[in-house]
This record gives sequence, structure tokens and C-alpha cells, in this order.
Amino acid sequence: MIADISPVAPADWENYAPMTFPAYRGLPHSAPLETVALGATAFGGPVGLLLGRLQPEGGIEVLSVYVMPAWRGQGVATRLFATLEGVARAKGVGRLALVFTRPHAFDEVLGRLLRSAGWREPRPRLLLAESSRERIMQAPWVRRAELPPGYEIFPWAELTAEEGLRLRAVEGTPGWHRRELSPFSSEPYEPETSVGLRRSGDVVGWVITHRVLAGYLRYTTIFVNEACQAHLVALPMLASVMHRHDASSFVRDADRAMFNVELDNKPMVTVLKRRFMRYLTSLKLSYGAEKLLSASSAPVPQ
Ligand SMILES: CC(C)(COP(=O)(O)OP(=O)(O)OC[C@H]1O[C@@H](n2cnc3c(N)ncnc32)[C@H](O)[C@@H]1OP(=O)(O)O)[C@@H](O)C(=O)NCCC(=O)NCCS
Repeated sequence: MIADISPVAPADWENYAPMTFPAYRGLPHSAPLETVALGATAFGGPVGLLLGRLQPEGGIEVLSVYVMPAWRGQGVATRLFATLEGVARAKGVGRLALVFTRPHAFDEVLGRLLRSAGWREPRPRLLLAESSRERIMQAPWVRRAELPPGYEIFPWAELTAEEGLRLRAVEGTPGWHRRELSPFSSEPYEPETSVGLRRSGDVVGWVITHRVLAGYLRYTTIFVNEACQAHLVALPMLASVMHRHDASSFVRDADRAMFNVELDNKPMVTVLKRRFMRYLTSLKLSYGAEKLLSASSAPVPQ
């Protein structure tokens, strides 16, 4: 029996929701217009799900793909990806993207799947480091790190509206952050552990944290303005976040820490290697894969 592939109707979503990550299960309800949910069905029941999201810049990001064990190796995921292309073209979308972590239990299968579907070879983009709060607090620099004179760390929640406007305006200008390192995102940040850095009253850096995965605090974005990088202010900022995590109201529920460091961000990669390596519990690489679609037509599921 070959599984049928079709968009998941809102009323059917609860049958497919267990096939994606908990963080995405509310997406078809919270962001129905941006969600692309393609279901595979056999004998009237769900056997696979591909969940994607339309990106503000115009592509579709595949958030997860899952096929039930009994149905694997029979081309179900291959057909989910083929159908996604049809949906993307019908929506006028020219780019598909997928982010995944290595090592991964399905590395080989995913690699073959993407290659056969004509995706570009996945490229490493982020280091994903993990530690426990207890372990990282043992690092001597966490206790010793001090800010040079003229600098001040403040809770990110105290950023003023004017400061926010200014940071948006300097994004992408020399010495400032690229969009990927912006402190602003649609996900709500964790106010107890997100901080900013001021120098002589001006905001020059930040560490923005999120709680997206049960048990973890994620250090999502760490940035220091280029002119201040020589003053070694990143470590005191990180140490401050670690102390705040230690004293936070949620530390019992989330005592692990995840650090995302872009491979292009050489200063932060160096900090990770020199200051964190001995205190990590795991280190993985996040890869990004993409496929650019030509404008030709393809079948669209009804
Ligand atoms: C990854 C996953 C979605 C693949 O689904 P699937 O329906 O089994 O995939 P397909 O049958 O379409 O096979 C895709 C490719 O992998 C190959 N493949 C399938 N199972 C394989 C296996 N056990 N060993 C080696 N290759 C395998 C297929 O031959 C095919 O390659 P080809 O196009 O070169 O012939 C499925 O294994 C799964 O649900 N895994 C758990 C969730 C997961 O890891 N998702 C990915 C990250 S979000």
C-alpha cells in the first residue's frame, strides 16, 4: 500500500501533532497562514508528517519530517518533500531550507533524501554546545570575570524604546550585528537571564536567552560591538547570565544550558574553545541545507 500525501486539515491536526516537536505543536493554530503541514496517510490513519513554516524573507523552512517506523524506507519522506516543492511553487516560494544537527540518528537517510531531491549539500553553520549549570559554574572565569571601567550590564527588559530603535537602525552597518545576531526575534526571550551591555550609556552588546526546550536555557544570541571586542567584555557578560540563571526562579526546571555559536563568529568560537570546552557536556554541529526552486510548475495536492 502506498501512502497518500495531502495537506493536513486543521480538524485533523491533533492526529499528526505527536509527529513533530512539542515546541511546534501549536503552530497550525497560532500561525495558520505561515504553516505548511503535509500529512501521509495509509489505511485511513496518519503515517508521516512534514511540517514547514513560511519565512518572512520568502522561503519555506522545513521544521520537522517524520515517518512512523513501520513505514520507513518506502519512499514516504521522498514524496513528502516532492509534494512540498509543489506547494512552494504554487505559493510562489523560491527557496526551501532545513536545519538539522549532526551527529544525528538518521544522518545517512536524511543525507540521501536531500541529495535525491536535488538539495544543495548541507553546510555547517552553528556550534551547539551544552553544559549543566552546575558544571559551568565550576569554570574559574565565571567567578572572576569583571567588566572594565565605563561598562555596565543591565537586564534586557530595561532596554528603552529609543535604544531599541537605534539598535534596529545600526543592524548591518560596520562594526554592528548581522540580522542573525539581532537581539529582536518573534520568540519571547527569557527576561530573568537576558542582558544588555552599555558603555558610557550606549548599548554595545547583549546576550539574549530563551527557554524553548524543556529543561534548558538557550543562549541564543551573543554580540559585542566590534569597537568593544578588544576590551574582553563577552566573558563578564556571559558570567553575569550564568549567575542570573543560577539565581533564577526556573533553575530547578531548567538547569541545563545550550549555547549557539555561529561558525563565522570567530571571536565567539575562540571563547567557546578556550573557556568552555572543558565544562561542556556535549558539542554538536548544526547544518543548514537548501534548495532553490526554478519557476517551472509541479503538481499541487488538493
Ligand atoms: C528521516 C525519515 C523522515 C525518512 O523517512 P523515509 O520515509 O524512511 O524515507 P524514504 O523512504 O523516502 O528514503 C529516503 C532515502 O533514504 C534511504 N533510506 C531509507 N531508509 C534507509 C536506511 N535504513 N538506511 C539507509 N538508507 C535508507 C532511501 O533509500 C532513500 O534514499 P534514495 O533516495 O537514495 O533511495 C525517517 O527515517 C524518520 O522519520 N526518522 C525519524 C525522524 C527524523 O530523524 N527526522 C529528520 C530530522 S527532522
